[in-house]
Amino acid sequence: MQEFKIKNSVLHCEDVSLAAIAEKVGTPFFAYSHAALCDRIRAYKTAFAEVPHLIAFAVKANGNIAVLKTFANEGGGADIVSGGELHRALAAGIDPKKLVFAGVGKTKREMAAALHADILMFNIESSQELTALDEVAKAQGVKAPVALRVNPNVNPNTHPYISTGLKKSKFGIEITKAVSEYQVAARLPNIEVIGIHSHIGSQLTEVKPFVDALALIAKLIEALRAENMDIRHWDIGGGLGITYDEESPPLVKEMADAIMPLLKKSGCHIIMEPGRSLAGNAGVLVTRVIYTKEGVAKNFVVVDAGMTDLIRPSLYQAYHAIRPVSENKRDEMVVDVVGPICESGDFLAQDRSLPKMTPGELLAVMSAGAYAFTMSSNYNARPRPVEVLVHGSDFDVIRKRETMDDLLLGEQIPDILLKS
Ligand code: LLP
Repeated sequence: MQEFKIKNSVLHCEDVSLAAIAEKVGTPFFAYSHAALCDRIRAYKTAFAEVPHLIAFAVKANGNIAVLKTFANEGGGADIVSGGELHRALAAGIDPKKLVFAGVGKTKREMAAALHADILMFNIESSQELTALDEVAKAQGVKAPVALRVNPNVNPNTHPYISTGLKKSKFGIEITKAVSEYQVAARLPNIEVIGIHSHIGSQLTEVKPFVDALALIAKLIEALRAENMDIRHWDIGGGLGITYDEESPPLVKEMADAIMPLLKKSGCHIIMEPGRSLAGNAGVLVTRVIYTKEGVAKNFVVVDAGMTDLIRPSLYQAYHAIRPVSENKRDEMVVDVVGPICESGDFLAQDRSLPKMTPGELLAVMSAGAYAFTMSSNYNARPRPVEVLVHGSDFDVIRKRETMDDLLLGEQIPDILLKS
């Protein structure tokens, strides 16, 4: 990412030194580049310019309302999967008519809130969910706009935890059952069928699975239209991968070009739900070295961020590049970069060759703009890090560091325990 580069031997985000941010806000912190976020969504806009489209950013990747607003300013909407994400999207000022709502376990309460907000479309994942939505819509005296999430059974060749389009997956409705499920939907009095949705997985590094899946969906659209279904919104999902290490995922343009004939032929309004490819490489997690520790079998660099801030290495054996914020020539050493959390699985990198670090120095964990802060936790009673948005030679705090009191929010000791 060109937004992260060394100037005067110090790693910068745009024109701001990460060391200067650390000085102001402490560590660990997340920094996102506004220019990088805009650049990524503009790449999507250009690549899909030939079809009417909506770029609905997957809020699960990065839910900060300043990030959502950045995309909204570029015309983007949001893909939400919970009442909480609906709340975030609305708080960011996203037009409700640019919201699509997926997820296998939407509750009636969540459906009611989304219907009330008048969102664009519900992406429905099961028959029971369809019935529930029909009931909720009836109670509000409205019709719920619906797409069915169809599972095309295409292998995306990615990590099993983030592959979602296979037969054994909990997501979506099997493609073989789709037509009959649509017929059920069309008969429900408070449901309006308006679209179709699929999403096969995340961190995809090849074009072929997209094309294969969407070719199957294109056929299905024809079959549905033959049944008089008015399929006018086609949500093609997200999933495009990014470079964490040496992956070379297709460019947005390559992916778009490969599927463009299908999209055009359909005549549909195209919705897409990218998450990682919009935000992943636009963010870093900056952490300070607390101690270094030379063991018999391993050398450790103990830092002040860990699995509570970035769980991807622990959960998916994911690779994140790690760079010293100050670059000066020194010997390299093979180390595990570990956090302070009381779990052996708490590492940011294993067996990584890094310049020899000393306590107090800063490290930048790269590609931490997606599925990083959103997957963070308070385990070990650790306040969540501060998030900042960098723009040019300035930056703003977009979420304060949590305080010790924040950790106790909502908790109370009942009277029964206070009686002595
Ligand atoms: N749409 C749906 C229905 C999804 O389930 C997802 C991601 C997306 C869009 C966005 O996919 P993206 O463009 O970001 O690949 N925590 C994992 C990733 C989980 C992805 C879940 N669904 C990770 O850290 O790699």
